[in-house]
Amino acid sequence: MGRVKVNSVSRTFKKEDGLSTGALDNVSLEIQDGEFLCFIGPSGCGKTTLLRIMAGLDSPTSGNLTLDGVAIKGTDPKRGMVFQEYSLFPWRTVIDNIAFGPQMQGIQKKDARRMAEKYLELVGLEQFKNSYPYELSGGMRQRVAIARALANEPKVLLMDEPFGALDAQTRNSLQNELLEIWEKKHVTILFVTHSVDEAVFLADRVVVMTSRPGKIKKIVKVGLPRPRDRTGAEANALRNSMLKLLAEERKG
Ligand SMILES: Nc1ncnc2c1ncn2[C@@H]1O[C@H](COP(=O)(O)OP(=O)(O)O)[C@@H](O)[C@H]1O
Ligand SMILES: [Mg+2]
Repeated sequence: MGRVKVNSVSRTFKKEDGLSTGALDNVSLEIQDGEFLCFIGPSGCGKTTLLRIMAGLDSPTSGNLTLDGVAIKGTDPKRGMVFQEYSLFPWRTVIDNIAFGPQMQGIQKKDARRMAEKYLELVGLEQFKNSYPYELSGGMRQRVAIARALANEPKVLLMDEPFGALDAQTRNSLQNELLEIWEKKHVTILFVTHSVDEAVFLADRVVVMTSRPGKIKKIVKVGLPRPRDRTGAEANALRNSMLKLLAEERKG
């Protein structure tokens, strides 16, 4: 199960001058088990803050969250995070980066490595198991980051613009691979992007946020059958309606 409930979550940050920045304002949301949800919104509207709160790396100023009815407090391998910047350990090989999570959960190194191999296969990088992160391309490093998050067998995968730094072609392949993994693993995915194309291609629903402090402006259901046609008329219409919503936020 991977059902997330966000109940009236607000987050403000105190600044040195004593004033505070509102990053999130009263966000409530229910995410279904196995759903693929994308977040999109202006820069600085609190998307990363919301994901960090879901990961347990930060706490709301008010409101609360639950995963399968249990309060979210602190980090937990059930909630895995993949960041935009490559967050692999540079001093560990690919296989040992992936085996790290299971090892932290108390699994013996040999068994953790065996698990890691399974996930490496899932992202198609078996032959790079003994390479170091610096030897890999950006796309390969993000595949390893995904495998590393999956090795903890999370119920929820939190992804913060994970493909934002990749070239268009690599990005498209990783989107396809992620959808395959999502279907195979039945994991709930919460995915921040600034690309409406990416959101329409990936998501079951897209949460469009307002400018700071971030509120939910609209939730757009993407009812298109998979595999999706990136250039179809329906996808275009959805993209245009989302771009219009985002443009309103820039004006406002
Ligand atoms: N640790 C922090 N301390 C102070 N302000 C922060 C902190 N994290 C985020 N903020 C502020 O909260 C707002 C939302 O930031 P963020 O969640 O990173 O936005 P987004 O990911 O949507 O671009 C911004 O104004 C940012 O400066
Ligand atoms: Mg961000």
